[in-house]
Amino acid sequence: MESKLQRYPMEEMRTLRARVDSAASILVLTGSGISSESGLPTFRGAGGLWRTHRVQTLASLEGFSADPVLVWSWYNERRAAHAAAEPSAAHRALAALEARSGNFTLATQNVDSLHLRAGSKNVLELHGSLREARCTTCDARRVLDGPLDASEIEHACGGRWRPDIVWFGESLPQAVWARAVDAAERAEVVLVVGTSGLVNPAASLATRFARRAYVVEINPEETILTPEVALSIRARASDVLPELVT
Ligand code: OAD
Repeated sequence: MESKLQRYPMEEMRTLRARVDSAASILVLTGSGISSESGLPTFRGAGGLWRTHRVQTLASLEGFSADPVLVWSWYNERRAAHAAAEPSAAHRALAALEARSGNFTLATQNVDSLHLRAGSKNVLELHGSLREARCTTCDARRVLDGPLDASEIEHACGGRWRPDIVWFGESLPQAVWARAVDAAERAEVVLVVGTSGLVNPAASLATRFARRAYVVEINPEETILTPEVALSIRARASDVLPELVT
């Protein structure tokens, strides 16, 4: 059987393994590409969510205020798709890498909970998650273990339940972001997996804040980050990450 290592340059993999094995602290930044191997769509590529859906309608407070029922029907569908998906070999490899690494942080832009379900522990969900809803007005939260019905959107305080995720124009959760910046500044190795790098501030973790790190991109496509990283491995996450923990 052909080794997976033969599908892309052996030299790159050796370099990556050596860097990862000797790093005192590692930050991994993931995007929707890692979950594409669990059958979930990305945002901007072929079949991507933002190719067929209007971002302003579905991923902004203005869109939600204008039509909360439409927005909830979309997020209900997405939450159900997340629940039906299984973590991929790439998600599992990152959990295994954390288990044997001293100082490991996983910052994800994904809201699908697949890293947690794969067993990752130190996960920073930069864009929130679809595990909970929160009130637009007060501090109330509720667990989403099924669809939120249109009749339930109004909250008793006068606000509305919304998905606990970050929409365009909104700030990232402050405490989560502070921990991510700290991890980026301390990291000796940063792995950037499955993201186009087009959304900030998340992408800036791998550039602006990763001052002392050896930054490696793992993505089958070239991205806006490619010219800025030390090493770019053109392969799928599940072809590369499991090799780091064997
Ligand atoms: P994008 O759709 O912008 O980018 C997905 C990236 O994954 C692309 O660069 C693909 O080439 C790459 N990719 C696809 N399959 C892959 C695989 N098997 N292994 C590795 N890489 C693969 O999605 P994101 O970068 O996640 O924000 O988008 C960032 C943010 O934009 C999302 O969190 C979301 C979206 O709007 C919010 O909703 C706030």
